[in-house]
Amino acid sequence: MRHNYLFAAMALALSLTGCRQQPASSASQEAWIDHAEEVATYQLLSTAADLEDSLMMPRTRWSGYETAFLEKQLEHKINEDSIHANPPKELLGQRRLCSVYDWTSGFFPGSLWLAYELTGNDSLKAQAIRFTNKLNPVRKQTNTHDVGFMVNCSYGNALRLAPNDTIKEVLIETADNLYARFNPAIGCIRSWDFGAWNFPVIIDNMMNLELLFKASKLSGDRKYRDAAVRHAQTTLKNHFRPDYTCYHVVSYNNDGTVERKQTHQGKNDESAWARGQAWAVYGYTLCYKETQDTAFLQQAVHVADMIMNRVKTTDCIPYWDFDAPVASDTPRDASAAAVIASAFIDLAGFVPEGQKYSDYALRILQSLSGKDYLAEKGENEGFILMHSTGSLPHGSEIDVPLNYADYYYLEALIKYLKQ
Ligand code: GLY
Repeated sequence: MRHNYLFAAMALALSLTGCRQQPASSASQEAWIDHAEEVATYQLLSTAADLEDSLMMPRTRWSGYETAFLEKQLEHKINEDSIHANPPKELLGQRRLCSVYDWTSGFFPGSLWLAYELTGNDSLKAQAIRFTNKLNPVRKQTNTHDVGFMVNCSYGNALRLAPNDTIKEVLIETADNLYARFNPAIGCIRSWDFGAWNFPVIIDNMMNLELLFKASKLSGDRKYRDAAVRHAQTTLKNHFRPDYTCYHVVSYNNDGTVERKQTHQGKNDESAWARGQAWAVYGYTLCYKETQDTAFLQQAVHVADMIMNRVKTTDCIPYWDFDAPVASDTPRDASAAAVIASAFIDLAGFVPEGQKYSDYALRILQSLSGKDYLAEKGENEGFILMHSTGSLPHGSEIDVPLNYADYYYLEALIKYLKQ
């Protein structure tokens, strides 16, 4: 369907300016985008064929770690109890699946939808429908904020690209379960039900607000949107440091005062975990798009500028934590880069100095589309991108493909083409 955007853009250009040649630069852009589409289509369809009859979703590749390496990256000794056991050697490198109740379960169906949107390939659409339907039980899940990611990326895209009456019900039922986690005295949605925190809220939770905004539009009931706005306001107040980096976890007491600020997946409590910064800029850009509240826009701009200032890699793909010690083996996080690219393209349209954000997003997309990050067809256990990091402090998913890196990469490509 990209060709539809191109056709529409071309028709507009013709009507405004008469016939003229395409600039040379867009011819070279076309080559890398065509290649990315071809790889994505191949990888997604072959993975879908492998898993067609399974209830599981592809999440990553099995990876291991050495404790000494983790300690070098974290710059402190680790408690063996806090890290996951290494997988058996025979699993290493193989595709790792997850259940539909895993926080990442919506990204594979979502990637199928986005690749369908990019290409118009009906096989992708058929598989998108098949894999989205597998997530139907998630509408009843109540124990995590991540139902926003899971159902919005799957059913949310289905509603956009192949609407039918039943999708709306799934989205609203899931939004009801997310809304039930909102505590008005605290002004936030509770993120996790595990751990020793009183009321943990993670910066990632900003991403799940999209489902609440959608539910208000679909149902006509403002309560979901009001909760999303309160959550974003409370998070803006408590999650950020003066330099606009953010904490990963803020836990609240029942009266709304802060219990603790710390990390879970970053280097240390005061570090800037890369994906957390990415969730922040995406979340506040989204909140501005939904509300036109300039406090959210300003926050998005501050976080975006901080990211551009703090990421020093030449290819703009951040290390797993902005404060990680840099060495030749410091893992990157392509997933953070993909989320940043997607957010920056939206942000570029909201501010007068937006060109710098779309230029930066393009640099990320070109890096991710090059041989250092984009898989060869048939390689990488069927994932599109290489070199993301899930949770280094837990020894988990270090320098691997991740289904959400693929999702936000495709989303950013689509936004780039629609600009
Ligand atoms: N939401 C979990 C993560 O970003 O790893």
